[in-house]
Amino acid sequence: MPTFDVYANDPGEPIWQVPASGAARFSWEYDDGRERLLALYQKGKDKQWDGQLRIDWDLEVDPYDALGTPEEAMALYGTPYWAKMNERERGELRKHYASWQFSQFLHGEQGAMICAARIVESVPDMDAKFYSATQTMDEARHAEIYGRFLHEKIGMVYPINDNLQSLLGDTLRDSRWDMPYLGMQVLIEGLALAAFGMIRDTTNKPLPKQILAYVMQDEARHVAFGRMALRDYYKQLTDAELREREEFVIEGCYLMRDRLRGVEVLENFGIPKAEAEQLSERSEFLQLFRRLLFSRIVPCVKDIGLWGERLQQAYVDMGVFELGDSNLDLLMAQDEEIAEKLDAERFAAEERERVAEVGEAIEAGQRLTG
Ligand SMILES: [Fe+2]
Ligand SMILES: [Fe+2]
Repeated sequence: MPTFDVYANDPGEPIWQVPASGAARFSWEYDDGRERLLALYQKGKDKQWDGQLRIDWDLEVDPYDALGTPEEAMALYGTPYWAKMNERERGELRKHYASWQFSQFLHGEQGAMICAARIVESVPDMDAKFYSATQTMDEARHAEIYGRFLHEKIGMVYPINDNLQSLLGDTLRDSRWDMPYLGMQVLIEGLALAAFGMIRDTTNKPLPKQILAYVMQDEARHVAFGRMALRDYYKQLTDAELREREEFVIEGCYLMRDRLRGVEVLENFGIPKAEAEQLSERSEFLQLFRRLLFSRIVPCVKDIGLWGERLQQAYVDMGVFELGDSNLDLLMAQDEEIAEKLDAERFAAEERERVAEVGEAIEAGQRLTG
């Protein structure tokens, strides 16, 4: 079904054009890659998978409770609006929220695919071009999967959030080749990864859990790539150049914290924008969620060497400074383990089922002959 038939709100023009600036770069050095980056490229090739096969699309999803989100997690919970809603309306609200959330994932994945392709084009080194080519494929798979989930299981898609779109636009319009890394790999993907992780670890629904676990297995490589490439490059930049990048990070972080909360959903339920913003701000659950959204960004920014005073101050102000000490390597190793464990469990369950079926067939056979 065409997506334009299932948009909750009008997304406007069907194509968004962002004029590109900056150079496409060819490198004539083919055999001087950094070992760690080439190893990551090899891993990217080895770990390719097919979302049509690896995910169990037969699993049913109730669009009115797609993620099993607890009531307290809804921004309206505990307000007069919530009290007035009946079960059907609450289900409708859940559907809109799940659609909004996964739609931002979907549009973000398209953005990631385009940024990864841009990196292939503009980054000077061949090893990074090779790696980013595998990431482009990964992001295509992610967009495909989220798109299928929304169309087949939720039946509703939300347009891209204005602020996510503007951050994406700023990232792509910049002619400096490191900006797609910083805007996309570090900020947008860092944020998305934290959101994926919170849903993966709390949902009791098997299909979204599979999707998130497998997508996160790929994302662990993407974060490693961004860190490696930027850490090397930022060592060569002047203080002034580093401060410019930090300003970009500060602005992007505030924007995502304050302007990416699904206010559009509440507006669709007749709540005026200003009040919808207040309600989202007030919700204790959302406050915690918003803080945790930075668990992947802060340590990454620190690690690549953007840790000037103004940036530190901004993180203190946002209450996320201490997240800088969390261990990214450990988090990413866990992301990979969780996906592998899920595969193993599913394989074991299938095996048990197969053995049981064979047993039944033998018994039935014995009854017939005996
Ligand atoms: Fe992705
Ligand atoms: Fe990614």
